[in-house]
Amino acid sequence: MTKHHSSNITPRPNFPEPAGAPLKLAVFISGRGSNLEAIVQAIAEKRLQAVVSVVISDNAGAKGLELAAAHGILTKVIERRPREKSSAQFNSELHEAIKTLDIDLVVLAGFMRLLTSEFLSHFPDRVINIHPSLLPAFPGVNVQAQALYAGVKFAGCTVHFVVEAVDAGPIIAQAVVPVMDDDSVESLSARILEQEHRLLPSVLEAFSRNEIKIVERDNNSRVVLTSQPIWKV
Ligand code: GRF
Repeated sequence: MTKHHSSNITPRPNFPEPAGAPLKLAVFISGRGSNLEAIVQAIAEKRLQAVVSVVISDNAGAKGLELAAAHGILTKVIERRPREKSSAQFNSELHEAIKTLDIDLVVLAGFMRLLTSEFLSHFPDRVINIHPSLLPAFPGVNVQAQALYAGVKFAGCTVHFVVEAVDAGPIIAQAVVPVMDDDSVESLSARILEQEHRLLPSVLEAFSRNEIKIVERDNNSRVVLTSQPIWKV
């Protein structure tokens, strides 16, 4: 555990020391799966010591499921149609689907459903999400359009721990891109996505090296990277 000299920072015992084994990932998706592809590529190129144990989608038509299957990754579809089942039931099915797989980290990569505190309680400090804005600005959906509308000059993406509130958990790492005067939602989204594909595997690499710690500071949880910064602006 890292020693801190400041009295208002308390290290929290969180991520276990890796035993040298690859990180076992469960990746949750709802659509295209380009971030999943970036993870798979980082593993194939041996930049990332991890294995994708399962890909779960709430959408049977998600393109990312084909990609997973093409790489021989176990896939599962757990759908939630309105009124068919409660969020609690849906979350319990998600947990059932992965509970015997000895998962180290659940990665939300374009997963459009909310996780309950019950689900999260099974994976304390082990569920992360990638979001295409510089949180805490622009949580929620259609965030690239929101950024353009607000006239911000910089946008980007954030990898953060997941808590029950939407896009609100402790921030792990961010990447920044400029916003151009003539940007459309499509051009800005593409510029951000390129950085997502670098940031998410980099964060997973840091996890696999046990370089990510959560500390309590000023009654709030902060993430500390114990290595070189993942991203320099
Ligand atoms: C990404 O922009 C991600 O940040 C957001 O949803 C999108 C998913 O894209 N949460 P993909 O399915 O990984 O291509």
